[in-house]
Amino acid sequence: MPIPNIIAIDGPAASGKSTLGRRLADSLGYLFFDTGVMYRAVTWGALQRGLEINDEAAVTNLAETARIDIRPPTREDGRACDVLLDGVDITWETRRSDVEANVSPVSAYRGVRQALAAQQRRIGLRGRVIMVGRDIGTVVLPEADLKIYLDASAEERARRRYQEILQRGGQADYGQVLDGVRKRDEIDSTRAVSPLRPAGDAVILDSEKLNADEVFTKVEALCR
Ligand code: DC
Repeated sequence: MPIPNIIAIDGPAASGKSTLGRRLADSLGYLFFDTGVMYRAVTWGALQRGLEINDEAAVTNLAETARIDIRPPTREDGRACDVLLDGVDITWETRRSDVEANVSPVSAYRGVRQALAAQQRRIGLRGRVIMVGRDIGTVVLPEADLKIYLDASAEERARRRYQEILQRGGQADYGQVLDGVRKRDEIDSTRAVSPLRPAGDAVILDSEKLNADEVFTKVEALCR
């Protein structure tokens, strides 16, 4: 069996999608593309411009007109890729807590999703790609050759996010992180447009029962 050309990895926040995707992309020599950063870039842009996050028309217009570029990392500071909005490097800004708190409502807007998914699909169809998100296997690239859905409990995912923040030298309260994860889960999985759910033909893996190495080994075996 040939190595799958297009690989989709979906799942909720902090389920280990990026860790798996980056390793798999390194191992196969494929492009790693985390689509969540595009929703984060639009959210940061909206906050920066002082737009009301619940002004759907204004936020959608921004998603349709802003130039978002994702390119291989030019700095060795732990980033998986560079994220540029209209030519400005906003890689770390997209991780800010105000972006995190507002990205779910932004990504629930139909027009925002249409604008970003069209760009994602164009890139994905070039092949040799690991695309990570919430709706890659269901909407963006339903023809993907391999679809993985990674899951874990909200508590476990909040614990990971909390550790990540501390490791980057930030401060956090576990209870607040857990609250944030639950809120995002709720919005991401109940929104009308492309809700978070596994594709019918996805391989579902529980990253709570398997550590990162075990998840990687399983998925690599599925690829080769
Ligand atoms: O994976 P992440 O935490 O960087 O994603 C940020 C937000 O973007 C998350 O709330 C869900 C949304 N998202 C989405 O709706 N569809 C995608 N393909 C990727 C992310």
